[in-house]
Amino acid sequence: MSVEDLYSEIVLEHYKEPHNVGEIEYPEIFAKGFNESCGDDIKIFAKVKNNIIEDIKFLGKGCAISQSSASMMTDLIKGKTLDEVKEFIKNFNKKITGEEEFPENSEEWFELSALKGVIKFPIRVKCASLAWHTLSQGIKDFENKQKK
Ligand code: FES
Repeated sequence: MSVEDLYSEIVLEHYKEPHNVGEIEYPEIFAKGFNESCGDDIKIFAKVKNNIIEDIKFLGKGCAISQSSASMMTDLIKGKTLDEVKEFIKNFNKKITGEEEFPENSEEWFELSALKGVIKFPIRVKCASLAWHTLSQGIKDFENKQKK
């Protein structure tokens, strides 16, 4: 099996059985995202306590790349602080656009690096980034509300 095959398998596994699908009642963070190139959308709900993402779920429709990316993202950010999540989103964006390499031998980035095939296809980068941009917007809205 080639490395590419393994990566596609990871993507397909998350697509067939995505993790953290659903809604959260009374979420502190809620955001809707939309991929204007295909019309697919996503909703993200998160519970925040003491600045930590305690729980996160998503609902949406889209291609295997968008759904698996959302599934992996929600797995990985649970338990992180908002600052850590913002940094993680920034790092992901750099990697998925090809500005930085995905780290090798990193447990945290292992599954995400299955998405790196999209780098060559800007339109698919939007699929992989949809959940991440949406969460980023949700965090911004939440932090703005806190300041008021
Ligand atoms: Fe719509 Fe990928 S084709 S999110």
